[in-house]
Amino acid sequence: MTGVASIGTERLRRRMARGAAFLGSEVAILGGAMSWVSERNLVAAISNAGGFGVIACWAMTTDLLDREIAATKALTARPFGVNLITMHPDLMALIAVCGRHGVGHVVLAGGLPPKGSLEAIKATGAKVICFAPALSLARKLIRSGVDALVVEGMEAGGHIGPVSTSVLAQEILPEVADQVPVFVAGGIGRGEAIAGYLDMGAAGVQLGTKFVCATESIAHPHFKKAFLRASARDAVASVQLDPRLPVIPVRALRNAGGELFTAKQREVAGHLDEGRVAMAEAQLQIEHYWAGALRRAVIDGDVEHGSVMAGQSVGMVTREEPAAAIVAELMAEAAAAFDRRAA
Ligand SMILES: Cc1cc2nc3c(=O)[nH]c(=O)nc-3n(C[C@H](O)[C@H](O)[C@H](O)COP(=O)(O)O)c2cc1C
Repeated sequence: MTGVASIGTERLRRRMARGAAFLGSEVAILGGAMSWVSERNLVAAISNAGGFGVIACWAMTTDLLDREIAATKALTARPFGVNLITMHPDLMALIAVCGRHGVGHVVLAGGLPPKGSLEAIKATGAKVICFAPALSLARKLIRSGVDALVVEGMEAGGHIGPVSTSVLAQEILPEVADQVPVFVAGGIGRGEAIAGYLDMGAAGVQLGTKFVCATESIAHPHFKKAFLRASARDAVASVQLDPRLPVIPVRALRNAGGELFTAKQREVAGHLDEGRVAMAEAQLQIEHYWAGALRRAVIDGDVEHGSVMAGQSVGMVTREEPAAAIVAELMAEAAAAFDRRAA
């Protein structure tokens, strides 16, 4: 390594120090929780690679989460987190499972934390990480005691908000990054982008799409192949059909499954018209649709009719390789970016 290269590496380590200390990891790169994909193997591989893996609990029962955490612990001695969805009916029991296992970090996704949930997580000794989709909500979450934030833009795979990562980062980082560690997510495919967000005050980053084709990921070979073939423009956001059925947009690869989702919305809207379902139930049916559709693609390999959730960075996923190689390459690119600035 040349002297100049080590300057870049040193700067990168320094910029990541706060985020890495918060996570207890070597580098401040979170593997964003991905339902069906982020299970024991990928989570442990990311943590063993020096990053921070996060289990996706999604709709798991307490028993399943209990087993998944135990199995992940058997594969890594390093810290990892658990992502819980706020609308899970057993949220409090899932928090208790995390507490029994001594999970150090709980990520709450899917909306503002319900009453009592932050306190319950903190009582277990764990740190709480929440998604901040706007500056006002970032401030509110900090006031309510969250320990760190994820700022995720609409370039990301999975459920998304309406604003891009670059705009959210500019709005939120200068205002709150001195108060809590902020991790930037959405559309990150290379280390240069990581260096950029660190420069803006981020404590670290969160990537999902980039880790789907890790060798350790259990995603079906068809799912991985779809990622390797796709370019940014293939990762499109779902469209809402009926104003009464607010659909949180989902970014996924364009396929026949998108048509099925439109048909599902039409069907549920029809049931609403006929008074056969209440609004809450109708919205729940739409959410359940996604859980089933993602499983169909990730586990069964039906990438035509299932949901191939993917972010716009999918075009930068070009080969299957170990999680450690992905983390090492991102770090090398980020260090090189800091080198160029130093030159
Ligand atoms: C297949 C897939 C499934 C996902 N599932 C979840 C989830 O269950 N919970 C969650 O909070 N985020 C989920 N995400 C979002 C990721 O955790 C992460 O924030 C996002 O992928 C980052 O953006 P990127 O895809 O551009 O790297 C998912 C993303 C993908 C691609």
